[in-house]
Amino acid sequence: MSQRKILITSALPYANGPIHLGHLLEYIQTDIWSRFQKARGHECYYVCADDAHGTPIMLKAQQQGIAPEQMIAQTKIEHEADFAGFAIGFDNYYSTHSEENREFASLIYQRLDQAGYIKRKTISQLYDPQKNMFLPDRFVKGDCPKCGALDQNGDSCDVCGATYSPTDVKNPRSVVSGATPVLKDSEHYFFDLPAFSQMLQEWTRSGALQEEMANKLQEWFTDGLQMWDISRDAPYFGFEIPGAPGKFFYVWLDAPIGYLASFKNYCDTNNIDFDSFWRPDSAAEVYHFIGKDIIYFHSLFWPAMLDGAGFRKPNAVYAHGFVTVNGAKMSKSRGTFIKARTYLDNLNPEYLRYYFASKLTSGITDLDLNLDDFTQKVNADLVGKVVNIASRCAGFISKRFDGKLSATVAEPALLQEFVSAGDSIADSFEKREFARAIRDIMALADKANQYIDNKAPWVLVKDDARQQEAHDVCSMGLNLFRVLMHYLKPVLPVMAGDVEAFLNTELSWQNYQTPLLNHVINPFKALMQRVDPVKVAAMVEASTDNLQATPQTPAPAGAKQAKTTEKSAAPAGREPVSDTISIEDFAKIDLRVARIVSASAVEGADKLVQLQLDIGEGETRQVFAGIKAAYAPEDLIGRSTVMVANLAPRKMRFGLSEGMVLAAGPGGGDLFILSPDDGALPGMRVK
Ligand code: 2FM
Ligand code: ZN
Repeated sequence: MSQRKILITSALPYANGPIHLGHLLEYIQTDIWSRFQKARGHECYYVCADDAHGTPIMLKAQQQGIAPEQMIAQTKIEHEADFAGFAIGFDNYYSTHSEENREFASLIYQRLDQAGYIKRKTISQLYDPQKNMFLPDRFVKGDCPKCGALDQNGDSCDVCGATYSPTDVKNPRSVVSGATPVLKDSEHYFFDLPAFSQMLQEWTRSGALQEEMANKLQEWFTDGLQMWDISRDAPYFGFEIPGAPGKFFYVWLDAPIGYLASFKNYCDTNNIDFDSFWRPDSAAEVYHFIGKDIIYFHSLFWPAMLDGAGFRKPNAVYAHGFVTVNGAKMSKSRGTFIKARTYLDNLNPEYLRYYFASKLTSGITDLDLNLDDFTQKVNADLVGKVVNIASRCAGFISKRFDGKLSATVAEPALLQEFVSAGDSIADSFEKREFARAIRDIMALADKANQYIDNKAPWVLVKDDARQQEAHDVCSMGLNLFRVLMHYLKPVLPVMAGDVEAFLNTELSWQNYQTPLLNHVINPFKALMQRVDPVKVAAMVEASTDNLQATPQTPAPAGAKQAKTTEKSAAPAGREPVSDTISIEDFAKIDLRVARIVSASAVEGADKLVQLQLDIGEGETRQVFAGIKAAYAPEDLIGRSTVMVANLAPRKMRFGLSEGMVLAAGPGGGDLFILSPDDGALPGMRVK
């Protein structure tokens, strides 16, 4: 196996919010892969940084009455502590607000400009006349230009699924001040992405992307690539564009450059040749792990920027799906928006590392953290299978055999089977098929336990004539355990460290084939406690936000799933005002109990669920409801709810919507459909 040079990154988290379990899937996935590559003896570095620029960060710091520099410094300390808590082994964790990043951003921009890839164009955008700033799409709210739904985002409608330009929104309002935005002209700088179309199509097909991603990209190529607006006007927290006073790089320009900056910072202090990784003909390998929501940035803009500026492109961009908890998007009101810190306050981080690993594949499907399954699986696999092997053998070795393993391998064929599985387990880790690796490791753990069950060393030790056999069996059990823990080391680095202390040996690919014979081990200490369901419940309780949503800054487009709940908060300065209606007006509304007969996702509409409602007297209604973020369709089937039955039918892109289901909550993942008490039957009027 020849030594490879590998640079690995995870996406840079924004420096304006805490790390949560949604983020952690990616860091755990990347960390396992990076630890695996290092264990295989490769020269491998894993770097990351905080993504510190942009309007949301600037505004949040303003709200807190502190300088953005102060806020991002504090957030970085918290992020690093959270990552350390989960044993994420970055070689360097840096910030995009760094001198290295300023230099690389300027260099790349200047090279692109010199090569003619930067175009200047005046555009008209919504401007907050009170705050004196241009408004990013997410900072505009108003009524949907397609269906008229009130209080929708500046770029998309939660009700009908339409996407549009913020300038088309009816009754627009600035989320920042509540003022009515005005249109204002400004010169912007654009990166000529279409010029890289040919190169990107080739790169996409070079194996750099997962198949689902390559297919998605093909759609974008077919639609035609667009120029990319890389400048923002002051006030903006970021880097000023060289030679363009008052213009700043858009956060997404310097964010991926943060990968270079973090690595450069590491190279400079560790005597590593940065250029050998990044020059166009480099034989080193570069991999970016990201969420599927930011594939556009990493598979189009980023390789094009690198190519245009004379750097090598990544070998691959590996996307993963989102985390759901108990089958639904993470939600503050359900207590499933779990921060890294809240988890760490209650549970062992390696439970989560193991659970995620046991479900991770190389694909982009979402991963459900079902808390009951989590408890059951960790207890059954790690405590019930793996640790059990050691705990059943170790005591006898210490008490009866002076802490020393026997001189022979009792079952060479069985040990060989465990060792030989290493190639295929390594192949699964290499291909990011962690679930497959874990399945294979657990199948071996079952075999080890069967072996111990069959030999029953607790019976053997009682028989003076069979002491040698007991010694051999327990030693065999511990040698099998050692091989398994060696395979699990990238997933469970902390427990593996404890096992190394216990077995008095390093778990490594260099030595795992050779059994420990006549080897002195240390007294066994409990390696892992069972997951306590009380602690899981305490974690959910501590994550439950029972308070009204407080006004806060919305996350920018492209932010991770956290935005679903973040953006649903009421915009600052706008409290809903309700007009009174007469009893006659109210009587006009035909509210009825409805039973959900069927519910299904709507292709092409992320937020909608298609419902068939039984409203009594043999009548069925079809309704498209914007509740997908809050409910898995299958969980809705059979439930009773309340609907407006005399709402004029609306023709939507996906079909006719014949009414409206009533739900409470701020929106997104925080929505609750109303349920009548037991006894209310479909068709009953609501009065
Ligand atoms: O979506 C996000 O959370 C971004 N902060 C990711 C940036 S990744 C890289 F490009 F910097
Ligand atoms: Zn709409």
